[in-house]
Amino acid sequence: MLKQERFSKLLIYSGAGLLALVLLAVAAIQAGASQTARLVAEGKQIFRFDTFGDEDFWGGQLRLHEAIEGEEFGGVGPGVSPATALEVGLKVDVGALPESLRRQLRRGQVDLDDPAVTLALLKLNAVVGVQGFFNSDGSLSSVGITCALCHSTVNDSLAPGIGRRLDGWANRDLNVGAIVALSPDLSPFETLLGVDRATVVTVLNSWGPGKFDAELVLDGKAFNPQQVTDGVVTGTNVSGATLIPPAFGLAGVNLHTWTGWGSVPYWNAFVANIEMHGKGNFYDPRLDNADQFPIAAANGFGHIESPVDLITPKLPALHAYQLSLLAPRPPKRSFDPEAASRGQALFEDKADCASCHIPPLFTEPGWNLHTPEEIGIDSFQADRSPDLMYRTAPLKGLWTHTKGGFYHDGRFATLRDVVNHYDTHFGLGLTDAEKSDLVEYLKSLGDGPRGDDD
Ligand code: HEC
Ligand code: HEC
Repeated sequence: MLKQERFSKLLIYSGAGLLALVLLAVAAIQAGASQTARLVAEGKQIFRFDTFGDEDFWGGQLRLHEAIEGEEFGGVGPGVSPATALEVGLKVDVGALPESLRRQLRRGQVDLDDPAVTLALLKLNAVVGVQGFFNSDGSLSSVGITCALCHSTVNDSLAPGIGRRLDGWANRDLNVGAIVALSPDLSPFETLLGVDRATVVTVLNSWGPGKFDAELVLDGKAFNPQQVTDGVVTGTNVSGATLIPPAFGLAGVNLHTWTGWGSVPYWNAFVANIEMHGKGNFYDPRLDNADQFPIAAANGFGHIESPVDLITPKLPALHAYQLSLLAPRPPKRSFDPEAASRGQALFEDKADCASCHIPPLFTEPGWNLHTPEEIGIDSFQADRSPDLMYRTAPLKGLWTHTKGGFYHDGRFATLRDVVNHYDTHFGLGLTDAEKSDLVEYLKSLGDGPRGDDD
């Protein structure tokens, strides 16, 4: 009797103990999950809104804000109207607009030729990737840029260029060069490159929409003297700018950028310091190579130290957010599923694309670089990077960046042109029908939420 009582007590105690353990574990998992969620949410804010103090460059040195506000508001020139801003590819976040303004925009009651409206939009924090700083009288005191400028767009839900934010999408409408060329003072670039303002402006205007040259301030090489594809010269003095790539679908990918400069956090630190001119620390002794990177070596870009560091503490959250961005799946009726499934078989077998673009990553797990000869193009851009190679581009979400072409410099206008190139380069002997099937497969790639049109 006594024994039985003790046994049942033991059972109750151990049951209670087990329950407590389970509850503790659940609480710990929840706490962990919410910490992770917090990190990602923090990263989203940084990606969208953080300038890392770069307004001291864009406003403070280039005085870009003066060109934006125009003479009438204490700046210089005619000012930038919303129509002009949209023309150079800037995007407006509909989520930041009050309902009354949305209604007026829908009814065409907003004067899109008035620079005052641009200032109002900046005050609402509605211009994607551009942060305005204001004086007490309402005029602009400075302007800074964020990652979202180049790596976000909008879904045009209200009007072309005005809609819901799409983080991670490459803004292939954005004419970075034309925007920078508006600056009243380009002397930082003149000094760095050792040329006059007219030359800086010529280079900036050579980029065109959807492109930016991240290596210009390292090597001063603005033009590819000879673009060669499959042994044929396809252009001379082609702009050295590269297409803006998406910042989604990068989890699991080893080396980033068209030429594999490093990991996501490497490149984030690089861009925030060297391109955006935020305040931080940056270390990369590869930039001390004066033969390859004369400007970077002379200016110590591989050893940047700042008394205030507004970048390094933000790298973990920024990294987490980027890895959370999946490559969106294409809208349902945007490709032919039967052709795509035939294309998949070709991709993996006859066309052998999968030997480099290994599914489901679509780049190599591990060292994902190739020589220019391997992929049949000139070495200009590869030679501007530490490893002198091209990175196997991850292909998920290709359908979101068909504007501006394909490969790092957009040399192939369409996916069909890309496939034709591989057919020539590797002697694949693909029929027309097989090429079409491959293209349908490329259009179908993505693993995130379905694209907008559904
Ligand atoms: C002025 C436009 C611009 C801004 C601002 C910008 N980027 Fe980029 N980004 C580019 C371009 C262009 C490349 C390609 C560079 C290359 O290959 O040389 C790139 C490449 C990348 C890549 C590599 C993508 C891949 O496919 O591997 C990542 C990641 C990235 N940027 C993240 C960021 C983050 C984070 C920020 C903010 C800290 C940022 N970028 C700010 C234009 C920009
Ligand atoms: C030897 C490795 C290799 C093979 C095989 C290969 N690719 Fe590529 N692919 C690359 C590299 C490297 C790049 C980046 C080129 C650049 O940046 O200029 C690339 C780029 C691309 C792009 C452009 C992506 C973009 O964002 O612009 C597409 C599309 C593509 N490949 C499709 C294919 C298809 C289809 C096949 C098979 C017919 C194939 N690839 C075979 C290495 C390869």
